[in-house]
Amino acid sequence: MASRGYHIVVLNGPNLNLLGTREPDIYGSVTLGQIEQQITRYGEEQSAKIDFYQSNHEGEIIDIIHQNREADGIIINPGAYTHTSVAIRDAIASVNIPAVEVHLSNIHSREEFRSHSFIAPVCIGQICGFGATSYIIALAALVDYLKTRKSRP
Ligand code: DQA
Repeated sequence: MASRGYHIVVLNGPNLNLLGTREPDIYGSVTLGQIEQQITRYGEEQSAKIDFYQSNHEGEIIDIIHQNREADGIIINPGAYTHTSVAIRDAIASVNIPAVEVHLSNIHSREEFRSHSFIAPVCIGQICGFGATSYIIALAALVDYLKTRKSRP
């Protein structure tokens, strides 16, 4: 059965606007626009309304999180800020809405500095390594979490 209409924010951080041409051997050839279309389609099947944001600026990412504090959930690919930003971590913790961290690449199989995330501890989970499909898996997991969280510990 479809859930009630959840409002989900998908927020992409720095350099992800260049997907499609950016290091395609690592991130694939799919553009951010195409990924957003796939997410929109899956969201419609789940009766979820998705709003998309992308920013290359740490403070703007924080503002977007604050502005969306009434949303039901957030899917965030913080890009390189994953590995550096206590401020984005604190923003997610401050708004107290369930967040899922997403990466196209498997950050645990790359350079050592990428395997540490400041963001993951304030998220309900982290999905990485599945390319564009990481976002779909994250949305499925987030909707399931929202539907069932009252029965969770
Ligand atoms: C990324 C992984 C990060 O380490 C990197 O800085 C990115 C993309 C990913 O989606 O795989 O910009 O978040």
